[in-house]
Amino acid sequence: MRNETIRSAIIQLLPQIAVACENDHVALIDRDSVALIGRELKEINCKRLLEIGSGYGYSALSFLQFMLENAGAETLHITTIERLQCRWERTRDYIMQAGAKDCICCVLGEAPEAFSYLDNTQKWDCIFMDAAMGRYGDFWLQLKDSLGPDGIFIADNINLHGVLDQPIAALPRRHRTMAKRLKEFLQMLECDEVWQYERYDYGEGLLVIRRRKQEKL
Ligand SMILES: C[S@@+](CC[C@H](N)C(=O)[O-])C[C@H]1O[C@@H](n2cnc3c(N)ncnc32)[C@H](O)[C@@H]1O
Repeated sequence: MRNETIRSAIIQLLPQIAVACENDHVALIDRDSVALIGRELKEINCKRLLEIGSGYGYSALSFLQFMLENAGAETLHITTIERLQCRWERTRDYIMQAGAKDCICCVLGEAPEAFSYLDNTQKWDCIFMDAAMGRYGDFWLQLKDSLGPDGIFIADNINLHGVLDQPIAALPRRHRTMAKRLKEFLQMLECDEVWQYERYDYGEGLLVIRRRKQEKL
């Protein structure tokens, strides 16, 4: 299918997916975060994107729509990983409906075990994390070397439940381990000579990590 045909199919489908997510209590990415990520994807001319946490495929299809805006005849590719079979099936159905099956591969599996199914012969332009917040630091360490020269790593919901802006002791016990791990992740990045990060207050908080200018490969 031609890029424009897929883009218009996605644009028509997204409101329907958003309603299904709301009805089924499946969290989905915030509108402002999608817009910010869309600008980033265009800026780096993203051709290959890896997502952890498909939900119903709303974010993966939104990202493809931005990537298609920039694309000529080049191949675009998104791999999205989802651990729940019912959500993986829904994502696959929506991808089919959008005519995007040649661009998006939805993997049924749990991160990080599912990383072993990935094709590591090519670098990712963008890695988007939207699952298992307490493990973002581990995922980062496992995946950062698979980012290309202008590659970016984006993590969503980094301030869910106020975990970054409150002292750990003030948080409910069930959020403390996750908060501690996220804070350690950011501290690790602060000392990193190759990578730097920016935090945005969109939605529940977005983290964008990119190489420092002098560290471009
Ligand atoms: C916030 S939802 C994703 C929403 C989606 N990115 C969007 O904006 O449309 C998070 C999803 O990640 C899945 N998930 C949670 N932990 C996971 C893991 N370790 N590996 C793969 N998927 C996971 C959940 O089942 C859930 O569907």
